[in-house]
Amino acid sequence: MNSGFLDKLIERIGRVRPQDLESYLTRLADEKGFLETIFNAIHEGVIVTDLQGRVSYLNRGACELLGLDRELSMDRPVRECLRGIAWEQLLGLGKVVSRDVEVFYPQHRFLNFYVEPMFLEKPSAKHLAGGFEREPVGFAVILRDITEHRRSTEETIHSERLSALTLLAAGVAHEIGNPLNSLNIHMQLLERKLRRLPEDSRGDLQDLLAVAKGEVERLDAIVQQFLGAIRPAHLEVGLENINSLISESVEFLSPEISDREVQVEQRLRKDLPLAVVDKTQIKQAFFNIIKNAVQAMRRGGVLRIESELENPYIRITFLDTGGGIAAANMSKIFEPYFTTKQTGSGLGLLIVRRIVREHGGEIDLVSHDGQGLEFTVRLPLRDQRARLLPPSA
Ligand SMILES: Nc1ncnc2c1ncn2[C@@H]1O[C@H](COP(=O)(O)OP(=O)(O)OP(=O)(O)O)[C@@H](O)[C@H]1O
Ligand SMILES: [Mg+2]
Repeated sequence: MNSGFLDKLIERIGRVRPQDLESYLTRLADEKGFLETIFNAIHEGVIVTDLQGRVSYLNRGACELLGLDRELSMDRPVRECLRGIAWEQLLGLGKVVSRDVEVFYPQHRFLNFYVEPMFLEKPSAKHLAGGFEREPVGFAVILRDITEHRRSTEETIHSERLSALTLLAAGVAHEIGNPLNSLNIHMQLLERKLRRLPEDSRGDLQDLLAVAKGEVERLDAIVQQFLGAIRPAHLEVGLENINSLISESVEFLSPEISDREVQVEQRLRKDLPLAVVDKTQIKQAFFNIIKNAVQAMRRGGVLRIESELENPYIRITFLDTGGGIAAANMSKIFEPYFTTKQTGSGLGLLIVRRIVREHGGEIDLVSHDGQGLEFTVRLPLRDQRARLLPPSA
């Protein structure tokens, strides 16, 4: 506030002539309007209450964050604006309190707010030699939207937990490999010895051994597949045409596509610049995404694949008509072994994510309820893998 003007006005209040009153009032109204414009322009919510916790001011930010009507909220208890909070405890004088809350109206958001007592400085009546005393007048409640921050923190925790888990699982899988090898060799020895026995004394031993061998092979395939999914691969990058990689991946799946009578529309931007990628790995990622889309669709479904330049990225979007993913499953689909298919390994998307991340790219998923899944991959035009490395000393 322009305190100079106010101070002068207070100083001269006894000498203000009636004819000057109008101009002073106009200036005061201007000052108030100026401050309100500033307060309404900031994104943070501001609520001011009196000592009893009744709202005496709130800005546009507060109305938007809490879904309030400004006029209806004035003079109401602050506990009616933001419910579920022990305001009586918070509105204690002499302390600044900060809390996080989750609100569900008008949008699901996480807010941080802090409450700060406000004082007015008044010339002290007790101090004859002048001096000021602080008179409590109310509280300021400042609200900030921390939804994005919280989401990214949760994602970091989730991905760290996941990488710790995959690292542990990789160790176990690796260790399982050795006894499996040894089992395989011993079974081959057994088979050889069995063959040397006279036929009538073999009984059903050969069949039993064949079953055991089959199971060991299956176990070995699972371990190899898992290690392949999580092992960071060495990228062999080159300048590649992403459109060709999309078309080749579609071509590779053409038997399954025509078997299900799925229509694939390729809307590929013609003048797309080349990108620095490992072509085999990117084709593997596209293959997994397209295979999922085709498997999700019934006869006559449509898969639209779009490529577009969004400098510094190339965006590739796969939009299917397979009904999308249930909200409850959305957070699980990148977890190893999560599958809703009878014969799925649940490693497809884990591989996609590893490949895209290793290229410095990003994945974005939107499930259109009941309609289909929109799977977006953004790949950097230039080699951005460097940004994934820790900063050097
Ligand atoms: N386009 C899609 N539409 C609907 N659900 C999908 C789609 N893509 C993935 N999903 C869901 O995500 C799950 C995990 O997919 P992921 O590719 O990792 O494994 P999978 O397809 O089940 O097995 P795999 O790919 O190893 O054969 C799927 O089982 C499916 O429920
Ligand atoms: Mg899959």
